[in-house]
Amino acid sequence: MTDGSEQLTVPKFARLKSSGRKIVMLTAYDYPSAAIVDRAGADGVLVGDSLGMVVQGKNTTLPVAIEQMIYHAEMVSRAVRRALVVVDLPFLTFQLGKARAIENAGRILKETAAQAVKLEGGKEQADLIAALSDAGIPVMAHLGLRPQSVRMLGGYRVERDRERLLADADAVQASGAFAVVLECIPAAVAGEITRRLTIPTIGIGAGGETDGQILVYHDLLGYSPDERIPKHARRYADLRSIITDAIRSYAGDVQAGRFPGPENTFS
Ligand code: KIV
Repeated sequence: MTDGSEQLTVPKFARLKSSGRKIVMLTAYDYPSAAIVDRAGADGVLVGDSLGMVVQGKNTTLPVAIEQMIYHAEMVSRAVRRALVVVDLPFLTFQLGKARAIENAGRILKETAAQAVKLEGGKEQADLIAALSDAGIPVMAHLGLRPQSVRMLGGYRVERDRERLLADADAVQASGAFAVVLECIPAAVAGEITRRLTIPTIGIGAGGETDGQILVYHDLLGYSPDERIPKHARRYADLRSIITDAIRSYAGDVQAGRFPGPENTFS
């Protein structure tokens, strides 16, 4: 967690690996959630394309559009004072050629105050990561379970191919990525990658040996109509119950004539 009021830049974030303390990241999608995450001391805020599922209620992240990412990233980056703000490049915004990818990633830096983009992919995206970095666009890579490949994978599965993961990790670091998310991979492999790389590893479902952790805001807070949370997440609050109770109290007060009270009424 950050201890000062200065905003974390990409180089400062990357140097956290050698600081010996764990990096704390969380997703956020709007102004109030981002401000609360930032003031609570998170080091990084990801505007994840997970918003397609947890905010828009869709089954996958595939339909998310670049305009939607920019809409959410503008609010989040305006709210954040200290954390590094990273924004996902959604499906088909970076696979259609370098020029299109640079244009889309560049829009995120031009139209919001975010500092970096994240993209799913390993070796096969190495040239693109280098091109984005050359264009001055910092890239956080994302290995392991890649939700944008859900149709190829046939579901959301743990990625266990150690050789592939090591090769991908080496490739994204060599191509200029400043950090890498490791999603749903065996803890031992995540530990091996973390010791092998000089850039920070941020884990989600990747065990305790990564340089940092990231969770989805709605999973951590129990802010979902669905009671289930993924195995890799831990629920620290039950906002679903808190919000339900508050709304029922309000409805009861309205129906019983207790709301509005004199303090809510103008003469
Ligand atoms: O979209 C997202 O929220 C993510 C995190 C789960 C790492 O990619």
